[in-house]
Amino acid sequence: MITLAQIGCGYWGPNLLRNFTALPEAHVKYVVEASEDRRRYVRENFPHTTAVPDLDPVLADPSVQAVLVATPAGSHFALALQCLKAGKHTFVEKPLAMSVAEVDRLAAEATRRGLTLMAGHTFLYNPAVLALKALVDSGELGRIYYIYTQRLNLGVVRADVNALWNLAPHDVSICNFLLGAAPVAVTAHGTAYLQPGIEDVVFAHLEYPGEIRASIHVSWLDPNKTRKVTLVGSRKMVVYDDVAADKLTIYDKGIDSVLTAPLPGPLPFDQPGAHRLIYRSGEIQRPRLSEAEPLCEVARDFLSAIAEGHSPRADAASARPVVAALQAATLSLKENSRRVALAEILAASVS
Ligand SMILES: NC(=O)c1ccc[n+]([C@@H]2O[C@H](COP(=O)([O-])OP(=O)(O)OC[C@H]3O[C@@H](n4cnc5c(N)ncnc54)[C@H](O)[C@@H]3O)[C@@H](O)[C@H]2O)c1
Repeated sequence: MITLAQIGCGYWGPNLLRNFTALPEAHVKYVVEASEDRRRYVRENFPHTTAVPDLDPVLADPSVQAVLVATPAGSHFALALQCLKAGKHTFVEKPLAMSVAEVDRLAAEATRRGLTLMAGHTFLYNPAVLALKALVDSGELGRIYYIYTQRLNLGVVRADVNALWNLAPHDVSICNFLLGAAPVAVTAHGTAYLQPGIEDVVFAHLEYPGEIRASIHVSWLDPNKTRKVTLVGSRKMVVYDDVAADKLTIYDKGIDSVLTAPLPGPLPFDQPGAHRLIYRSGEIQRPRLSEAEPLCEVARDFLSAIAEGHSPRADAASARPVVAALQAATLSLKENSRRVALAEILAASVS
């Protein structure tokens, strides 16, 4: 049994609390909440958890082995560092921190103390994303050309971070995971329509090695709730639609460029042969996916990483390039959509 505390139980925190509470190998002893309303919510719904306003006594309790940080993004670094310094294994909601330098500081502290540090990249535990990853890795989709993601809705508008830091950690983590790589450069366009300086709509273009492109569209200003990832390969194409009944659709579709034998008569481009485009349109598959709740798998991975001493899937090493890409996108937004190389962000982080 692992004894935990959770900091923050606002909009998202109840989901974490519910999943950890449901696992027999965990006991969430405390929720630390600044708001009396939210403490009352915890008392009324989680009778085995004590809701308190202050963190210090909780960190001083030697029975608490691990802490879940579910507060707004800007507070993640300071709170996570405080928890690690108190000797607690630490889970931090996405984004792990607001800069690569902060991620590195947390990772170094965790390593030095032999503690587990994990980021809340829920989609790395999502059955549809795992099925998509298996398709990419098997080669069934052929060469990956590009990915585009859409995470759109009307709200929830935040005042502490823009739509990029609020929503795109998911999309960047999905793209990095599927491609097994980090982007080399990012270009971002975005506009703050509702609140000055806080972009509610962002379009980010990520360049991956091997000419693979990813386009991420996040927005709080859209008429429809859309959660979609479209991946186009040379052999097959896949759409993961998180709000559809059938989440994954695999299209055996594509266009092959075939070099034809030299034809008699004048050639179109003065070449010995010509390329012909052949359209393929085959079967459409909608595979059945596991119904496991991703957040339950997140909780299990964190607890087993602590118990068995292995790295969780969403460890600091996987969270680092996500934060780096978001930092690059932020710089691009600030500097008139300049193309920002990730090397620039990483070099600035070590100096
Ligand atoms: N994994 C996901 O799919 C997902 C989805 C939504 C949000 N999130 C993440 O969850 C985190 C929380 O988001 P939210 O939407 O619940 O925010 P929120 O503002 O609704 O809730 C945050 C809560 O933390 C409390 N709080 C803040 N600082 C505190 C402190 N120092 N001590 C004690 N309590 C404190 C606030 O009183 C509030 O109740 C964010 O990092 C967000 O990115 C993750």
